[in-house]
Amino acid sequence: MTVLPGHFLLAASPSILDGAGDEARRVAGLWWFMLAVATIVYVVVAGLVAFAVVRHQRPSTEVSAGEPGEGAAIERRGADREEDIGFIWWGGIVMPIAVLGVLAFLTVTTSVALRRNTPDALRVDVVAHQWWWDVTYPDGAVRTANEIHVPVGRTVDIQLRSVDVIHSFWVPQLAGKLDVIPGQTNVLTLRARRTGTFLGECAEFCGVEHANMRFVVVVQSADDYAAWSAGERSPPEPTDLAGEALFQRSTCSACHTVRGTAATGTVGPDLSDIGSRAWIGAHTVANTPDNLRRWIDDPSTLKPGVLMPPSRLSPAEVDELVAYLEALR
Ligand code: CUA
Repeated sequence: MTVLPGHFLLAASPSILDGAGDEARRVAGLWWFMLAVATIVYVVVAGLVAFAVVRHQRPSTEVSAGEPGEGAAIERRGADREEDIGFIWWGGIVMPIAVLGVLAFLTVTTSVALRRNTPDALRVDVVAHQWWWDVTYPDGAVRTANEIHVPVGRTVDIQLRSVDVIHSFWVPQLAGKLDVIPGQTNVLTLRARRTGTFLGECAEFCGVEHANMRFVVVVQSADDYAAWSAGERSPPEPTDLAGEALFQRSTCSACHTVRGTAATGTVGPDLSDIGSRAWIGAHTVANTPDNLRRWIDDPSTLKPGVLMPPSRLSPAEVDELVAYLEALR
């Protein structure tokens, strides 16, 4: 089976103009206004350039010194110069300040509005790692990775932190982008207005796998969200699969957590619901048994530079682990 990196499968990037949330629609509104202003400025300036070219082609009325009509020509040139200086003042200084002033005002008021404070907002903590996203819900003791579930119509405060370098959190259809900076918590507010799955990505170069640091925001109805949250809260059922014991005694459990078991590593993503996720490797490849097998065997064949080392397990052991991981939901 051919494995295509995620970005080929997702060739159609989401558009900021196809807003599905209040914040994205606000940003899109500002974008349209700026486009309209830029278009008007372009048409006016291009028109003036065309006018100047045409005017310059008029036959010269220059009069040499001492010729009859010299006085009138000097007077005409003086009036032209005064007109030119007035035009430079208005067209070169007053108008640009006015246009840029209006755009700056709207940009600042939009930025302030995007950072509104909503006391009953749902809090989601997102921690950026090279190159994946750790997602926790402090109120619900829920933890997952690269997948953020939110209820439609509810204001969500996403508290963004980074454990290594600067990343940037961006879901174009839901909100503007916000840098994720080590040593600091930035809060991105969003309120989705329609259900669906929306692609997000890291928008700041953060190392070799920056392009494979994607995630999804799953916007659900209130009931679906409550069901998802309740399902996540209960730890996965213990299995009698050979892969479970293998997971515990191999190096897997040192880096990954599976709730309700002795595996409590926090270096890599929490795998308690890995079987229910559509993608692995922060949206690098689809979550299929074949891709999971390749990932466990040597993840760098799918995501070069990834920090997870090869497993050094036999093919039979890898198969056991894949069966176990698929059962985690
Ligand atoms: Cu993280 Cu780019």
